[in-house]
Amino acid sequence: MAQARQAGLLALKGQQSSARLDVDCLLAAATGLSRSQILAFGERLLSYVEDEQFSALLDRRQRGEPIAHLLGQRDFIDFTLKVAPCVLIPRPETEHLVEAALEQPADRVLDLGTGSGCIAIALARAWPESTIHAVDYSTEALAIAQQNAQALKVEHISFFTGDWYEPVAQYRYDLIVSNPPYMGLNEPELQQGDVQFEPSLALTSGTDGLSALRQIIAGAAARLNARGRLWVEHGYQQAKAVRDLMAAHDLVNIETRYDLAGQERITGGRAQ
Ligand SMILES: C[S@@+](CC[C@H](N)C(=O)[O-])C[C@H]1O[C@@H](n2cnc3c(N)ncnc32)[C@H](O)[C@@H]1O
Repeated sequence: MAQARQAGLLALKGQQSSARLDVDCLLAAATGLSRSQILAFGERLLSYVEDEQFSALLDRRQRGEPIAHLLGQRDFIDFTLKVAPCVLIPRPETEHLVEAALEQPADRVLDLGTGSGCIAIALARAWPESTIHAVDYSTEALAIAQQNAQALKVEHISFFTGDWYEPVAQYRYDLIVSNPPYMGLNEPELQQGDVQFEPSLALTSGTDGLSALRQIIAGAAARLNARGRLWVEHGYQQAKAVRDLMAAHDLVNIETRYDLAGQERITGGRAQ
């Protein structure tokens, strides 16, 4: 095991900043052992099949494929989600969005652009009595979200395919939450790291990245019950634009929260 680990580290060195963690995760996937067992059983040799599998995973990682795609899963808050190339890989920043949303209980909840279902499922696990609706334009993403909800035994989320508010036009909510696509079409980051392997529908929204946020914010007040709240995630340079949009669309008590890197990342407002 120690030998394979060393070879893996050499292969990814200088290429992936998370080389050590990546190698341990790939070894765990190839052998079925836990990461701590990998460290503890340095003397153990890989079987032929394990070695082949580890080499294949390492090759794909060297080509830049995200670890979450190689493992087919990603942890989010306190649960594990299935992920595939048709959904955004859930990010740690989005845990802040869930944290903000959970501050005040809500009976009727809407998650716009649910992707893997990470936000809707986190809220549903915390609020077993609430009615939760989750919308996505991608039927493939919705299939993954539904599989995740089923695997985690969360039964009170209804899933809708369509364009933002369109499939749920007849409902009103106490909370609307969204992590929409918010990168501009020409941002250089789109050619780097994990995002190269993620769907553009989940990443980009017009040249300034604000098209989806404009639609979601513009439609929120009419779909919120009195004093209902909207929380959205956005790019770190978009906070002021998002606050201005919320104020222009009749939301009050507008506030922005920071992510762990100290960047403005989450903004919320409430209906009057
Ligand atoms: C940034 S991803 C967020 C996924 C997930 N909520 C998360 O936080 O990891 C944005 C999601 O919005 C969906 N989306 C993009 N345009 C949409 C639209 N017009 N209507 C509904 N969903 C849309 C994408 O398919 C994608 O799943």
